[in-house]
Amino acid sequence: MFEKLEEIDAVVKKCNKCGLCTNRTNTVFGVGNPNADIMFIGEGPGADEDAEGEPFVGKAGKLMNQALIGLGISREKIYIANIVKCRPPNNRTPLKEEANACLDYLRNQVMIIKPKIIVLLGNTALKNILGEEYGITSTRGRWIDKKGIKYMPTFHPAALLRDESKKIDFWKDLELVKNEADVQNFQI
Ligand code: URA
Repeated sequence: MFEKLEEIDAVVKKCNKCGLCTNRTNTVFGVGNPNADIMFIGEGPGADEDAEGEPFVGKAGKLMNQALIGLGISREKIYIANIVKCRPPNNRTPLKEEANACLDYLRNQVMIIKPKIIVLLGNTALKNILGEEYGITSTRGRWIDKKGIKYMPTFHPAALLRDESKKIDFWKDLELVKNEADVQNFQI
């Protein structure tokens, strides 16, 4: 258990707890406000994130950024991280053992940041954080309260690239987050 994000990042950079370490260019630890009220959690780095060492900088990230800007949510005021910190080959879904090997880092990040809201982007984030029994299609757009944190599951931005019709629901879900943040006076 670490007390500073930098300490976890330093350990992650040298991590070899699962096979994903063998092909990485960079670990992708997380980015944003270390005291954020709102945290976004994705699945894992893609090629662009692996190259730059920052989450959501590729095509899906750019789409998410557009939504954030449109809704008045500042990327600098939130915190963005992933379930796994190293790129899975060919952007496949992380295996259960890879996610499990990495999850303690994310849990420690959450303990330090203490977000009030966590946006879960897609099934991998949803299932690894809240449990295998959840599914994104039936759960998205509904607040789930657990241990003092409000979770908002929504589609992964990459799903919007494959199916444009999901953009409307993605926007609605993030609008709920923005409205809640406004009511609660959260940093956004
Ligand atoms: N997809 C993710 O889940 N995370 C990223 O950082 C980029 C793409």
